[in-house]
Amino acid sequence: MTKALVTGGAGFIGSHTVDLLLARGYSVRVLDALAPPVHQDGRVPDYLSPAVEFMRGDVRDRKAMLRALEGVDVVFHLAAYQDYLTDFSRFFDVNATGTALLYELIVNDRLPVQKVVVASSQSVYGEGKYRCAVDGVVYPPLRQEAQLKARQWEVLCPICGGSVQVETTDEAQVRPHNQYAMSKYAQEMIALNLGQRYNIPTVAMRYSITQGPRQSFRNAYSGICRIFVTRMLAGRAPVAYEDGGQLRDYVYVGDVARANVLVLEDPRADYQVFNVGGGAATSVLQYGVLVAQVLDADLTVAVPGEYRFGDTRHIISDISRLRALGWEPATPLPEIIAHYAAWAREQPGLGDPYAQAEQVMKQLGTVRTAGAG
Ligand SMILES: NC(=O)c1ccc[n+]([C@@H]2O[C@H](COP(=O)([O-])OP(=O)(O)OC[C@H]3O[C@@H](n4cnc5c(N)ncnc54)[C@H](O)[C@@H]3O)[C@@H](O)[C@H]2O)c1
Repeated sequence: MTKALVTGGAGFIGSHTVDLLLARGYSVRVLDALAPPVHQDGRVPDYLSPAVEFMRGDVRDRKAMLRALEGVDVVFHLAAYQDYLTDFSRFFDVNATGTALLYELIVNDRLPVQKVVVASSQSVYGEGKYRCAVDGVVYPPLRQEAQLKARQWEVLCPICGGSVQVETTDEAQVRPHNQYAMSKYAQEMIALNLGQRYNIPTVAMRYSITQGPRQSFRNAYSGICRIFVTRMLAGRAPVAYEDGGQLRDYVYVGDVARANVLVLEDPRADYQVFNVGGGAATSVLQYGVLVAQVLDADLTVAVPGEYRFGDTRHIISDISRLRALGWEPATPLPEIIAHYAAWAREQPGLGDPYAQAEQVMKQLGTVRTAGAG
């Protein structure tokens, strides 16, 4: 029986990956620090299968990692620090150094690990790929504060300053803007390059916004599904930043788990990086309409002219490379929202968890208000 280690396996994507591995006959060990804010009580979550061998520990702790790697054939490295906070070094400490330690132990202790799949992120693209009628394909930088303050939401051509059209972004170019994205790209480079150098087949997965049951309500970087669903369940209108025209692609967590296992089992994936996305673009306002429909709520999204500094205007992943291996996102957005809402309704004392996260982001100056429109 193949033995898989899943770091971060008590989390959202990790636990769904664990379930699929168990269903496919793997024996599964989880190493997870049960870190706040996702795990507030330090308890193993009820949704984690009792068939798992659970170890509490930190991916930066050499002894814990060595114990977790004992007798393991394959590794899913999903544990990560994810937030918008300014403790920059912690992002690299957990996400990059933790990954380097994984390879250090495999190489130095000659561990017979046959494959490693690491979780990267669509965030490595920053603004991603656009087309300018004059200058062709461009990769614009972060929008500047003055532009946002003046409510000029759309990205401009970095060469001629003219308007640009968003395209789907393939794996070729990255432009990570923030501490999280930079640390995830560093993690990818560490994994793919050390993997190649020491013949440890490795795959890096750049997930788009992943959604579904078990996603924590407590992350400050709450995704739109959590925010809009929990707000509307609380009977309040959610808020769209900018003008609500931001385009994103959304992928179901079950489809992500399938992608993880597919690249593990298909040697054609070795030493490659893959986008794992929903395959369709949806604006924030369209998303709000879908949530209201699914919840049967008579609420519309408010657009008060706020913005989060550092946000990407549009990003939509091109998933052709993973499709070529036979993977397809199978869950349409209304179904994703319905699965999530059904789960959220079962959670005791849900309230409006985003209210607190938003307050923190306003205090930190992440959420700002534009000039008069
Ligand atoms: N959810 C998304 O939309 C998304 C998108 C892109 C990339 N990712 C990546 O996918 C992976 C899983 O994300 P998720 O959404 O399931 O997050 P999550 O927070 O639900 O799960 C992460 C798990 O890692 C554990 N963890 C955190 N720091 C740890 C440490 N130092 N040592 C050991 N365990 C630690 C946490 O306790 C948690 O159980 C992460 O690497 C993340 O960067 C997620």
